[in-house]
Amino acid sequence: MACTHALLCTQKRRLILVACALLFLAGIVALAFFLGKHHHSEIPPENWKGAGTTADLYEIILGRCDDYVMFVNPGVRNKDCRKLYQLFKASVMKRNQCNITTVDYEELFQFSSSPIPCNQSLLWSKTSDLAHLYAKSVPNILTLEDTLLGYVANRLSWCGHSSNSGWNYKSCPARYECDNNPVSAFWRTASAHVSGSFAKQACGVVHVMLNGSIPAGAIKPDSIFSSVEVPSLDPVRISEVRIWVMDNIDGPDRNSCSSKNQTDLEAKLLERNISSICVDNYWPVHILQCVRTPNESACKSKTG
Ligand SMILES: *[C@@H]1O[C@H](CO)[C@@H](O)[C@H](O)[C@H]1NC(C)=O
Ligand SMILES: *[C@@H]1O[C@H](CO)[C@@H](O)[C@H](O)[C@H]1NC(C)=O
Ligand SMILES: *[C@@H]1O[C@H](CO)[C@@H](O)[C@H](O)[C@H]1NC(C)=O
Ligand SMILES: *[C@@H]1O[C@H](CO)[C@@H](O)[C@H](O)[C@H]1NC(C)=O
Ligand SMILES: *[C@@H]1O[C@H](CO)[C@@H](O)[C@H](O)[C@H]1NC(C)=O
Ligand SMILES: *[C@@H]1O[C@H](CO)[C@@H](O)[C@H](O)[C@H]1NC(C)=O
Repeated sequence: MACTHALLCTQKRRLILVACALLFLAGIVALAFFLGKHHHSEIPPENWKGAGTTADLYEIILGRCDDYVMFVNPGVRNKDCRKLYQLFKASVMKRNQCNITTVDYEELFQFSSSPIPCNQSLLWSKTSDLAHLYAKSVPNILTLEDTLLGYVANRLSWCGHSSNSGWNYKSCPARYECDNNPVSAFWRTASAHVSGSFAKQACGVVHVMLNGSIPAGAIKPDSIFSSVEVPSLDPVRISEVRIWVMDNIDGPDRNSCSSKNQTDLEAKLLERNISSICVDNYWPVHILQCVRTPNESACKSKTG
C-alpha cells in the first residue's frame, strides 16, 4: 500500500517501529524467563540426610495458627497468621541451610511472642510424652509446645534452599550433619535465646520434668535444657524451681534426686541464685502414668 499522504506515512512508519520494539522486548523477556528456569533446574538440589519439609507445610502452619488464636489461646487473637507464615518462611529462605541462627528467627519470635503467666511453665528433657500429657491434664501448666510458635511448629520438619525461595521437600540437614539447621535453630531460639523465649519468660515457680530411666544420666550437658534453658532462667523473676525426676513406670530407676546429676543441677541453679527442690516420681504425674498402664505393679500397690 502506497502512502498517499505524508503525515499518514510517518504515522505508519512509527507504528511499525513501535510494533518491532515491542516484539523485540517480548522476545528478550521470553528468553530471560526460559534461561532463568533453565538456570534453576541446573543447580543441583541440596541433598541432605534428614527428612525433607513436611508436606502441606503452608496449610498446616496456617491451620494450626488459626486454631491456636481462635480456640486454644484466644488471648493472642490479634496475631495475623498469614504474616506469621511469611516471617517463618523468610527466616530460612535463601540462606545456607547449615548456618541458620537465632538472628534469622528473631523477627518471627518478636512478632509471635505472647506473655506466659507466672507459675505455669513446665520445662522438660527426655520426658516429652509424659510432660505433654501432664500439661494437658492439669489447668495452668504450659510447655513450650503450648505457646503459639511451639504449637505451630511441633513435630514439623522444614528447610529451604540457599539459592531460591522454595521449601526443600526432598531432604533437610540432619542434626549430625550440622547443628545450625533450620529446625534445631528454631527450637534453640524458642527455648531460650530471644527475649520472648520460653525459658527467659519463666517466672514464679518453674517446673522441670526429667527422665530418671535413661542411661546417660537424667540430663546431658548438651541437651537444650542444660545448655540453653538453665542458663537463660532469670533469677530475679523466678522464686523456685521444682524438679520432678520421673522413672518409667516399669523402671529402671537410674537417676533420682540424690544422684550426682541432680545435685549438680541444683548446684548450678544455686550458683545463679535460683533455689530448687527435687521430688522423685512426683505423685500426680505418677498417677497419670498409671492411667495408661494400670496393671503395672508400681500402680497396684497403693489402693489395690
Ligand atoms: C553464616 O551467617 C552469618 C550471618 O547470619 C554470616 O555472617 C556468615 O558469613 C555465614 N557463614 C557461612 C559459612 O555461610
Ligand atoms: C505462684 O506460686 C507461689 C507459691 O505457690 C504463690 O505464692 C504466688 O502467689 C503464685 N503467683 C501467681 C501469679 O499465681
Ligand atoms: C525416658 O526416656 C526413654 C528413652 O528416650 C523413653 O522411652 C521413656 O519414655 C522416658 N521416660 C519418661 C518417664 O518420660
Ligand atoms: C550425668 O551423669 C552422667 C553419667 O555419670 C555424665 O556422663 C553426665 O555428664 C552427667 N550430666 C551432667 C549434666 O552433669
Ligand atoms: C547471688 O546473691 C548474692 C546475695 O544476694 C549476691 O552477692 C551474688 O552476687 C548473687 N550471685 C549472682 C550470680 O547473681
Ligand atoms: C489387667 O489385668 C487383668 C487381669 O490380669 C486383665 O483382665 C485386664 O485386661 C488387664 N488390663 C489392662 C489394661 O491391661
